[in-house]
Amino acid sequence: MQSPLDAAFDPEAFRILGRQVVDLLADRLSSSLRGEGKVRPATGPEAEYQHWKTLMESGTGAAFPFLEEFVARAIYLHHPRYVGHQVCPPAPTAALAGLVAELLNNGMAVYEMGPSATALERWIIEQTAHKIGFEKGAGFLTSGGTLAMLTALLGARARKLGSDSVRAGTEPRWAVITSEEAHYCAGRAVHVMGWGSDGLLRIPVDSRFRIRTDLLDQAHEDAVARGRTPVALVGSACTTSTGSYDDLHALADFCQRRGLWFHVDGAHGAAVAFCEELRPRIAGIERADSVILDFHKLLLTPALATAVLFRDPACSWAAFEQRAQYLWEASHRDEWFNVGRRSFECTKLSMSLKIAALWHAHGEELFAENLRRVHASAAVFATLIAQDPRFDLATDPQSNIVCFRLRTPDLSDARADSLHRSIRTEILEEGGFYLVQTELHARVWLRTALMNPFTKEADLRALLERVVQSATALQNKASA
Ligand SMILES: Cc1ncc(COP(=O)(O)O)c(C=O)c1O
Repeated sequence: MQSPLDAAFDPEAFRILGRQVVDLLADRLSSSLRGEGKVRPATGPEAEYQHWKTLMESGTGAAFPFLEEFVARAIYLHHPRYVGHQVCPPAPTAALAGLVAELLNNGMAVYEMGPSATALERWIIEQTAHKIGFEKGAGFLTSGGTLAMLTALLGARARKLGSDSVRAGTEPRWAVITSEEAHYCAGRAVHVMGWGSDGLLRIPVDSRFRIRTDLLDQAHEDAVARGRTPVALVGSACTTSTGSYDDLHALADFCQRRGLWFHVDGAHGAAVAFCEELRPRIAGIERADSVILDFHKLLLTPALATAVLFRDPACSWAAFEQRAQYLWEASHRDEWFNVGRRSFECTKLSMSLKIAALWHAHGEELFAENLRRVHASAAVFATLIAQDPRFDLATDPQSNIVCFRLRTPDLSDARADSLHRSIRTEILEEGGFYLVQTELHARVWLRTALMNPFTKEADLRALLERVVQSATALQNKASA
């Protein structure tokens, strides 16, 4: 009888389990890609908790059936009818690279703990910075867009307010400007920096949900008059709800005129830098001081893997000046290879391996092809909606995100909003599609992010019919 430790580390057991798990996932991938079965199981949170609680408390058991059970109850992002949040269906090569990274567990705060991952991270950052248009840019990878936003804005704070701000902290008399459609992580970052919710100035958007650049000067002056001095501006490339790209040149001009740090939240949309035809959407991004870009959104990499890029390489050190002598021998800035000096994380997963393996095995064209496909799907879907008198389109898609709603002339705004919420709940519970919802101009809209390059026009047509069917059933029920 093996001890628990010996059993957990038995290489032969690992080999057997690994083969079983890869077979399971390959079968799952195959049926998901063919659009078989549901996208998402129907269980609610309490029932799901009870299920796993019972299983966990039933004693120890074999690993394979346990993992099989997890896979059976998962949401399937590879299913063509997954049109929900902006998380990609990962390419299998990247997922397997993730397995390699996790077993080896080369933590990356210091070079010694993750030499290859550190070297690959530098290569990825150099290539990505180059695509963004930063001639010499530098940066690092971090765990997601939210943390990346905070790190970039901490860098902005240190650069704009001086190193004293790092030593002594700051008073809440500073502000960051962004649009009312910016992702909530901008507000969180400002809050964490101690400037409160008043420290985020949210500028209204135009009819296509882009920041109103004509309002910026007045907003700046009003803020200063209130005792809030803006130090940075966050442009969206693109926004989360509608995939709208701010006018980055106009924002860069404004920042230059007012002496502000220009940060571009490209968590979702800066990925178009990898596709020549789509790159014009981020014209002006090369003028930013910092940019973030999620590989786990449009670049087929499992979460989380985000690049934080700085136009001036020296700024990539700005966020954290603190010293940890036991980790670093020297404190000079040329130590690019001790990435923990620049990123929030101390121990960090070798996330570069997932990106690099994909890049190496399939070439950059993989990213471009995916970007072309998902953007084309969005254009097709928007056309279907625009040509169908039963629906309204929120705006022509600038990215792979499409928001729409039913035309309901006979319903009050409140009833129409409630109907759309119910439609989404019903579709979610049935599990045939996964879509989300958003609020635009205080109204509820159904929202799709076409993340899966294998979603076909037939799937999108079926989604529209499903929405109509659900609306009819709900309205019949209400009037019965
Ligand atoms: C524009 C934008 N910025 C930031 C984020 C946050 O990124 P993450 O989910 O990687 O933390 C998102 C997530 O959807 C986003 O759409």
